[in-house]
Amino acid sequence: MILTIVKYPEPVLQQPGEPITEFNEDLRRLVADLFETTYASQGIGLAAPQVGISKRVTVIDLSMGKDPAQKLVLVNPEIILREGRQYEEEGCLSFPEIRDKVPRAAKVRVRAQDATGKWFEVDGEELLSRALQHEIDHLDGMLFIFRMSALKRDMALRRIRKLQREGRW
Ligand code: NI
Repeated sequence: MILTIVKYPEPVLQQPGEPITEFNEDLRRLVADLFETTYASQGIGLAAPQVGISKRVTVIDLSMGKDPAQKLVLVNPEIILREGRQYEEEGCLSFPEIRDKVPRAAKVRVRAQDATGKWFEVDGEELLSRALQHEIDHLDGMLFIFRMSALKRDMALRRIRKLQREGRW
């Protein structure tokens, strides 16, 4: 089922998500819905708070549905290693039309559970590293505009206010 993506400044986006404790059919349905919603929006990742569910689960698929091997389900994820720096453009499905550069670690290692509760680790570089950091930030209530420079953040916030006034947000 395609879920409704909430946009900034919906409060749920800035609340830390609750840890997942039950690995049941509800969780598996939520994961399937998150993938379906990501693909319908032509995104590469989506976190549960973005569909109004304040829980620590997110999905990433850099292939946008083309390669099942790239589907990544991250439940209760933690970044356990960060290395280097990168500074590239990001967007977010909760911020349509907003894209700008965000400082991130070049490489990360993430420890997470899958939809059955099994722990695993995943390493990411470049785009995957950015996606992992961006989505895990969502689970902490942290949004990418608050990682931007003050100048870029102010530009983004002004743009959002303009879109709101025009009824396009
Ligand atoms: Ni996002």
